[in-house]
Amino acid sequence: MSNDKTDEIAALCADCQMPTYARTATIVRGRGSRVFNPKGNQYLDFTSGISVVALGHAHPAVVEAIKSQAEQLVHSSNLFYNEPVARLSKKLRDVGLGGKCFLANSGAEANEAMIKLARLWGARNGGRYEIVCMRNSFHGRTIATLSATGQTKVQEGFEPLAPGFAFARFNDLESVRAAVTDKTAAVLIECVQGEGGVVPASQEFVSGVRALCDEKGILMLCDEIQCGMGRTGKLWAFENYGVRPDAFTAAKALGGGLPLGALVASPALSDVFGPGSHGSTFGGNPVACAASLAVFKTFETEKVVEGVAAKAEFFRRGVQPLVEKYDGVLELRGSGLLLGLALKEPRAGELLDELRNCGLLACKAGPDVVRFLPPLNVTDDDLQEGVEMLADALDIVFGGDGE
Ligand SMILES: Cc1ncc(COP(=O)(O)O)c(C=O)c1O
Repeated sequence: MSNDKTDEIAALCADCQMPTYARTATIVRGRGSRVFNPKGNQYLDFTSGISVVALGHAHPAVVEAIKSQAEQLVHSSNLFYNEPVARLSKKLRDVGLGGKCFLANSGAEANEAMIKLARLWGARNGGRYEIVCMRNSFHGRTIATLSATGQTKVQEGFEPLAPGFAFARFNDLESVRAAVTDKTAAVLIECVQGEGGVVPASQEFVSGVRALCDEKGILMLCDEIQCGMGRTGKLWAFENYGVRPDAFTAAKALGGGLPLGALVASPALSDVFGPGSHGSTFGGNPVACAASLAVFKTFETEKVVEGVAAKAEFFRRGVQPLVEKYDGVLELRGSGLLLGLALKEPRAGELLDELRNCGLLACKAGPDVVRFLPPLNVTDDDLQEGVEMLADALDIVFGGDGE
């Protein structure tokens, strides 16, 4: 192999991996808001591994926690207790809903657990099993979670979908009310639809869903996998609305870069599952839990979540003039550092390519939205550099429209 392994790595992936991903750059190393390719060239990373490395790449506290736990115990299975699992479960009780959690390995697995919990609860509460989900939502790629996802593009070809999911329009409370029947066990929402185009829920909608669930005696469930863990400026996005769901899921940033998901329940739902109801060989891996504890600790010591609103405001102030400058750009929307630049036409792929050429990594949220997910502790200098790269890329793609 030559020193620059870019082509070789890409060719091996193309030859040996099922072509499920449209990959672009090759990354060998990351530090803070930057990642590096095999040539040593750097990119400013405003994907954070799709909302995963909230503290940036290789944060020393996370690296140290992973190293020292790996030297102690990497895996022992759920046949036995271990300390990182115990401590993380307590942390999630304290910062969550005051109840118990189930630890999984990914977002989809956490959502699978939440769907099973709602069904088991529903079976014991009047034979309810249906979950009302939102159009344009995203909940994962397993059969149950893609069936709960309100986007046909992830479902096509995988029929028959799992039964037991009904759909309502996001931010339309009356459509949720119309979808609830005597078979409904729960309503499932994202407070900010991430994959669905970076669309925040309205206050009226979230409060209305809570009130509707209370009125009908059913569960309100939140998927906090993308919008949770501080991304919107609160630890959990539902806190922005002053409501508490009956259960929620977290993943992505929860493990500090290691695979980890959690179903977090209120006390009333904490003992619905019993021995044998659910399980996972790797769920609650000690190294992932130790990394997660380091994330929570760093959030506190470095006041990371408290800083998100000001950073988001700084970025918005830089981007807003660009929204106004280019006719092809519709708006900048989102919540905290979960931001989407919505275009008037489906040209997100084109803009992403130019951003990468300018040195900035971002990701898509549908064909017409470019999503920015910088680390939550990104510096103002990095944000400013990102704005300048965006200005250059917009100029190339939209050719100075409106000037
Ligand atoms: C809101 C939401 N839920 C669930 C998932 C699925 O998570 P994972 O890819 O870890 O299975 C995602 C992933 O993008 C997500 O954004």
